[in-house]
Amino acid sequence: MRVLSGVKPTGELLHLGNYFGALRQFVLLQDKYEDAIYFIADYHSMTAVRDSDLRRRYSMNVALDLLAVGVDPERAILFRQSDIPAVCELAWLLTSVTPMGMLERAHAYKAALDKGESVDHGLFTYPVLMAADILLYHADLVPVGQDNKQHIEMTRDMAQRFNHSYECEALVLPEPYILEETGVVPGTDGQKMSAAYDNTVQMFAEKKTLKKSVMGIQTDSTPVEGPKDPSAAIFQIWNLFASESEREEMAERARAGGLGYGDVKKDLLERVLDHFGPMRERRDNFESRPEEVEEILSDGAERARAIAEPVLDGCRQAAGLGSPSGV
Ligand code: ADP
Ligand code: TRP
Repeated sequence: MRVLSGVKPTGELLHLGNYFGALRQFVLLQDKYEDAIYFIADYHSMTAVRDSDLRRRYSMNVALDLLAVGVDPERAILFRQSDIPAVCELAWLLTSVTPMGMLERAHAYKAALDKGESVDHGLFTYPVLMAADILLYHADLVPVGQDNKQHIEMTRDMAQRFNHSYECEALVLPEPYILEETGVVPGTDGQKMSAAYDNTVQMFAEKKTLKKSVMGIQTDSTPVEGPKDPSAAIFQIWNLFASESEREEMAERARAGGLGYGDVKKDLLERVLDHFGPMRERRDNFESRPEEVEEILSDGAERARAIAEPVLDGCRQAAGLGSPSGV
């Protein structure tokens, strides 16, 4: 079994949604499966970031974040997407088996249209490049948040269409790995936590900023004595940092009344700081050694290339591209 996932370097600090929805699984799965591949999706960032220096900086930040949370280059391949440009070739092969209608139904594209944003071809075709990311490495399992589920379904569809068109088994159909409990982490306003909604609690923000976001989690006006809804966003976020028995106890205390939201927030802030403290240290450490991070990425790219080359070659042969001997 091969696990694979990517994170876009768009400049926002990673938030609890990214961590509990995706990154934490990256770390758990690298121990569970033989092969784990994680990458910085810098080609994908091109639909949002149009400054080369910024892209480099943001890409380095994602590398630091991944290393900080515990992605271990000894156990997982960590690389920069654009170091393996073959992914663009596979994306082209896939575009020709991808119906327009499939891409027109993509949530991200539809949301951009609804907001009246001008949509470039890169955003429209984002799911094809993402499919190529997954298929180029014959990934079996893709840990992501719920918002990426549709992308994995489209990936399966494209792989099937390619294999069927060329009567081959060049591509492997992947499965999404989405945890029910953390597939959609709520933000401070109760909607899905997302950089785009300005409702995030960032993992590595300064204490002051963290305090502001945690204290700003929206709650209703039930007085301290009143019973509270244990499914409110504040409890859902607190639960991320609690054991099963602590959660049950907290839910009972909420229902019983006598629990102030302010106290829950204070406790949550402590838990956030404790949880991410050691990771923050690890991040600072890597940040002071950028050459080492670059080495990790170039070593990762070499290992990734060795997996990608035969897969792409198989697709080219199946489709009758290039010289028949596969030079
Ligand atoms: P954002 O929505 O903030 O732009 P990204 O799209 O960069 O986040 O997501 C990176 C990873 O984190 C993806 O696997 C995505 O599915 C996951 N993710 C993002 N937000 C959440 C959330 N609120 N709950 C669970 N997973 C999330
Ligand atoms: N779409 C993912 C996100 O929301 C990033 C991504 C790009 C990705 N390619 C991928 C995730 C391949 C998993 C597999 O940030």
